[in-house]
Amino acid sequence: MNKKRVLVTGGTGGIGQSIVERLSGDPRYEVSSPARVDLDLESRESIDAYFSEASVYDIVINNAGINFPECIEDIVDKHIQSSLNINLVAPLLIIQKCVPHMKQQRFGRIVNVSSIWGVRSKEKRTLYSATKFALNGVTKSLCRELGPFNILVNSICPGYVNTSLTQRNVTPEEQEIIKKEIPLKRFAEPSEIAESIAFLISENNSYMTGQTLIVDGGFLA
Ligand SMILES: NC(=O)c1ccc[n+]([C@@H]2O[C@H](COP(=O)([O-])OP(=O)(O)OC[C@H]3O[C@@H](n4cnc5c(N)ncnc54)[C@H](OP(=O)(O)O)[C@@H]3O)[C@@H](O)[C@H]2O)c1
Repeated sequence: MNKKRVLVTGGTGGIGQSIVERLSGDPRYEVSSPARVDLDLESRESIDAYFSEASVYDIVINNAGINFPECIEDIVDKHIQSSLNINLVAPLLIIQKCVPHMKQQRFGRIVNVSSIWGVRSKEKRTLYSATKFALNGVTKSLCRELGPFNILVNSICPGYVNTSLTQRNVTPEEQEIIKKEIPLKRFAEPSEIAESIAFLISENNSYMTGQTLIVDGGFLA
């Protein structure tokens, strides 16, 4: 059996680790998840270098992301650049590198990990929402452009997930208040996000493309 080659960015993070574990345990996939020293998403040179040596991928999961919750007056240039580069420009460049092979194979699956703050927003999420709304725009445009080549492109929009990113950005008191507003009364586990992604990239998903799949325990409903 020809294994599908999968690239996962941000594999050291809470959700990324779960994606890597879930897919590495599946004999259909050969998973690569380069560390930041090998693929620094803030650096155009690093992206060019990584893909000059590698590597053809049938499936790309753009998972790495950062979030600096700041009021508009406090946003610093460094955070604007990092957010744009890591959350938006890098996913776009990675897709650009991988699409020629996918087109040739007439098979591809791309999943962009966005957020509920890519379909709605809240205070102190100006930068984060700007990048995640834009990432969903990338998904929608590419769904149209790449559909004729049997390349399916989707965003997944997690709600609150039990990861260090959430622990950093939401105080314990806020967490308790938010849990009361979630119909399922809890945050997601990273493995639950990984499971949804496993569906999106699998052969079971043959017709879903261009979507922003919200996995939030019903929070936005
Ligand atoms: N956690 C949530 O509640 C939640 C909710 C909605 C959406 N999301 C989205 O889900 C994705 C994963 O989130 P998470 O909670 O797992 O985040 P996390 O635990 O903070 O992990 C972030 C990952 O991104 C990588 N990364 C950051 N900057 C990088 C760079 N310059 N080059 C290469 N890798 C870089 C980190 O690598 P290092 O180990 O090198 O730092 C890490 O592997 C993100 O896109 C996030 O926006 C998360």
